[in-house]
Amino acid sequence: MLPSLSLEVLVSFSILLVIIHFTSIYLYPKTNKNSPPSPLRLPIIGNLHQLGSAPHRSLKALAQKHGSLMLLHLGSAPVLIASSAEAAQEIMKTHDVIFSSRPNLNISSIISYGGKTVSFAPYGDYWRQSKSIYVLHLLSSKKVQMFRRVRQEETNIMTDKIRNTLGSVIDLSDILMSLANDVICRSVLGKKYSEGTLVEHMSELTELLGVFSVGNYVPSLSWVDRVRGLEARARKIHKVFDEFIQNVIDERLDRNGKMVNDEGRSEGEKDVVDMLLEFQKEQANTDVIVHSDTIKALILEMFVAGTDTSFTSLEWAITELIRHPRVMKKLQQEVREIGQGRPEITEEDLENMQHPYLKAVMKESMRLHTPVPLLIPRESTQDAKVMGYDIGAGTQVLINVWMISRDPAIWEEPEEFKPERFLNNDIDYKGLHFEFLPFGAGRRGCPGIDFAMALSKLALANLVYRFDFKIPNDGRVEELDMVESTGITIHRKNPLMVIATTC
Ligand code: HEM
Repeated sequence: MLPSLSLEVLVSFSILLVIIHFTSIYLYPKTNKNSPPSPLRLPIIGNLHQLGSAPHRSLKALAQKHGSLMLLHLGSAPVLIASSAEAAQEIMKTHDVIFSSRPNLNISSIISYGGKTVSFAPYGDYWRQSKSIYVLHLLSSKKVQMFRRVRQEETNIMTDKIRNTLGSVIDLSDILMSLANDVICRSVLGKKYSEGTLVEHMSELTELLGVFSVGNYVPSLSWVDRVRGLEARARKIHKVFDEFIQNVIDERLDRNGKMVNDEGRSEGEKDVVDMLLEFQKEQANTDVIVHSDTIKALILEMFVAGTDTSFTSLEWAITELIRHPRVMKKLQQEVREIGQGRPEITEEDLENMQHPYLKAVMKESMRLHTPVPLLIPRESTQDAKVMGYDIGAGTQVLINVWMISRDPAIWEEPEEFKPERFLNNDIDYKGLHFEFLPFGAGRRGCPGIDFAMALSKLALANLVYRFDFKIPNDGRVEELDMVESTGITIHRKNPLMVIATTC
């Protein structure tokens, strides 16, 4: 039986809905344009209240009602939500140039030196030049090869750590985060800085980047962000990283701004900071001026873009393997055939031997647990027609790749972890298959794919080569919690606590 108040509540709620409906019609009159479907919105805040703490999930629920291309209004800003492979392809391939800019959002602007990182720079010459520094110099296949020794040594340190704690409960998330952080630190800065609280700051930074700040969309409500302390937190974290990076640069330059210890170092010994400072020096005689904020922004970006994402993809992969002993066994069989009893699996081993199941496990894990579920927001620079709808210039765009990679029209049993679905087909993560886009696609796609996947495959192969994992207190694998964190990258909310044994 319904409680007696329910009728009153229902009547009030219906009246409120009618008011909202008519207010929306009055405040937001329909134009002649053929806009995509939009959910009902509230005056002033629009659809902001519908995003919740897990926007990829809330947007999925809305898309199921309103369609794979829908137009939300965050405050007064139009935000296009693409939730199908077809919509993603139209935006990131057919109209890639038009949708290749990024919105100027307050938190990312504070953190990125005013849009000087590649990820948050608006489309244009600055973005083009700085992205080419990544593609041609810092993240080229030659440079990814150059950091092979770092990946191998750090992977061995990780397996040693686990070996030293056999039989005890360990925080595997922490171990994997240290691995990702140490590999990035050594590749970018030349040495490890894991002793400080950099890792904690990193989590806070990626969490802040995923927050929808009200002030971006409704300037009159920016006091809400101030009360939440958002901008203050962003400024504080920016300062911490800026001082840290400035110290690293200062250590490399003498009083005249000349690089110290520069002579006699081979290419292989150079880290990303060396390469950037050299690049800055070379460009000094040309029209291209590389400002020190650009150098700092790119160093910060390699850190942020590289650490949390690589850690996240590894953490979910090993979580799913522990939950699926059949898959774990099959993967162990493959890597043991590669390793042949030698102490470790190397990148050369992986190059020389086929490892289709390892690749399939990584893909399947990123399909189910897309590390950056909504990609990085884009913005259109001109009017465009997408799937027959008119989209105005200046529209922000979110692509729900998390929802696309669980689309039952594309994937059989989409909620199940089945790496076999990636065997016997050529579906890859390089941005050509729009049903599976963990690294995005088109001009704004991720330049760090090879760097990230080299580490993920090596680390996962070595983890399962030597160890079996079980849940503490004889816990059943089905009970392993799968709660997600919040932020731009979605990792496990709770650390993965396991007991490792040798096999
Ligand atoms: C598993 C690891 C990684 C994942 C899942 C990942 C994912 C992504 C995604 C989804 C985007 C946005 C693409 C778009 O908007 O279409 C992106 C952009 C970017 N990523 Fe990655 N990434 C990873 C590793 C890395 C690494 C290791 C680096 C560099 C060290 C890196 C550097 C960047 C940069 C600079 C951009 C901005 C590109 C632009 O705006 O033009 N990423 N990444």
